[in-house]
Amino acid sequence: MMMIVWFIVLVFCPGPLRTQLGTTPNIKHIVVGRCYNYITLVNPDLRHDCEVIWRHFEEAVVRQSSCNVTVEDYNKMFYAIPQTWPCDRSLFWSKTRTLMHSYAAVNPQFWTLEDTLVGYMFNDLIWCGQEEDSGFDFSSCPEWSACRNHPVYSLWRQASQNFAEMACGNITVLLNGSIVNAFNKKSMFGSVELDSMNPRRVDYVNIKVVTNLEGPFTESCSKGSIVDLIHILQSRGFRWTCTDNDQTLMILQCIQNPEQPSCQTCVNSLLHRRG
Ligand SMILES: *[C@@H]1O[C@H](CO)[C@@H](O)[C@H](O)[C@H]1NC(C)=O
Ligand SMILES: *[C@@H]1O[C@H](CO)[C@@H](O)[C@H](O)[C@H]1NC(C)=O
Ligand SMILES: *[C@@H]1O[C@H](CO)[C@@H](O)[C@H](O)[C@H]1NC(C)=O
Repeated sequence: MMMIVWFIVLVFCPGPLRTQLGTTPNIKHIVVGRCYNYITLVNPDLRHDCEVIWRHFEEAVVRQSSCNVTVEDYNKMFYAIPQTWPCDRSLFWSKTRTLMHSYAAVNPQFWTLEDTLVGYMFNDLIWCGQEEDSGFDFSSCPEWSACRNHPVYSLWRQASQNFAEMACGNITVLLNGSIVNAFNKKSMFGSVELDSMNPRRVDYVNIKVVTNLEGPFTESCSKGSIVDLIHILQSRGFRWTCTDNDQTLMILQCIQNPEQPSCQTCVNSLLHRRG
């Protein structure tokens, strides 16, 4: 998932371009090991062949110019990883990665992309191939922004699309109200996931807008790009709710930052309630 954050940083934040490292060392051991870990310990009901998944992955990436791996190149790999999950659990997020992790940790019913087998296997990894060579390029990989068909982006794009297509029942979207364009049409959520959600499968899109405790308080359910998101949802026939200042999220932020003035009242009222 780090890669998604990098992607967002690299593509959507103006600033000097960053040079990327090459393919993560030991990538095969990491990916295959995580796969076995997942199907053995995390989700033992799955019957997947980790070696076959790896082989399809490798075939998609190597012997290709490092900027020329399309979503379709991963078709075989995704075909080898069918996965379904129960309704009412999907958690989407954009620019709220740290908080999303604590939120998912205290609400184990939530499923993020990282909880799927693909997300679990490739989280935080970098990879690219090289033309006329049967191996990965361990010395350098292009930046996301340098490519139309970046091998890492293409995989996450397809994984995100599958994740959103599968979403059903109530889904939750965590957006960052401390930034302009909390709903960014170029983010993975705005460009891929939103378009892949099916209003006939989804009961409610429950949006939660969360700001930093100290502000800025830039966007909210009634202000800024989130209003655009709500219009899009409405026009596509989704039912939705939108919450500013969700109490659970605020408590999670206060745990990490108890000195914040806004947390003092929160803590005091909890103590009083208990006393
Ligand atoms: C990109 O891939 C396609 C199909 O695999 C191939 O036809 C094309 O020549 C490749 N382009 C580059 C620049 O490698
Ligand atoms: C909102 O985004 C800013 C800038 O990326 C980040 O520093 C901050 O932690 C985010 N806030 C939340 C609540 O995720
Ligand atoms: C789905 O969300 C709606 C609106 O927030 C809520 O009324 C309903 O109880 C939720 N259903 C489930 C199963 O969580």
